[in-house]
Amino acid sequence: MNRKEFIEKLGVGAAFVLTSTCLGSCTRDRADPIKDLDFVIDLTLNKFLELNNFGSYIIEDQVVIARSITGEYLAATLICSHEQLSQITYSDIEGAWLCTAHGALFSEGGEGLNANGSKGLQIFNTEMNGDLLRVFS
Ligand code: FES
Repeated sequence: MNRKEFIEKLGVGAAFVLTSTCLGSCTRDRADPIKDLDFVIDLTLNKFLELNNFGSYIIEDQVVIARSITGEYLAATLICSHEQLSQITYSDIEGAWLCTAHGALFSEGGEGLNANGSKGLQIFNTEMNGDLLRVFS
């Protein structure tokens, strides 16, 4: 093998390595829906006191738990359906789920309200029992 052949061969190999590396790390996996989610939080604990305020939210176990602007307890996945970034919040201005990455907006029921939110958002059930809030799929 002469030098030219070596470089040509290296170029193809390097391109393959770069391509396969990028495909492996540049492609984001589509988030699978969370199944069998079921946990309880004690709303009297300091870390959950924020939920006393209408329009606020906390994050627990990859779930965004919100107190809606009308006082309901809501829960949604933290992972946005747009590009699978963990940036879902609850917007007290919109009264909706908002992804801070690219502005995807979802209704409280998880329906997409703009183009980036068009794939919808996984929503979980909530149930109050005294001071305990159960979040489940
Ligand atoms: S990842 Fe949420 S809007 Fe893009």
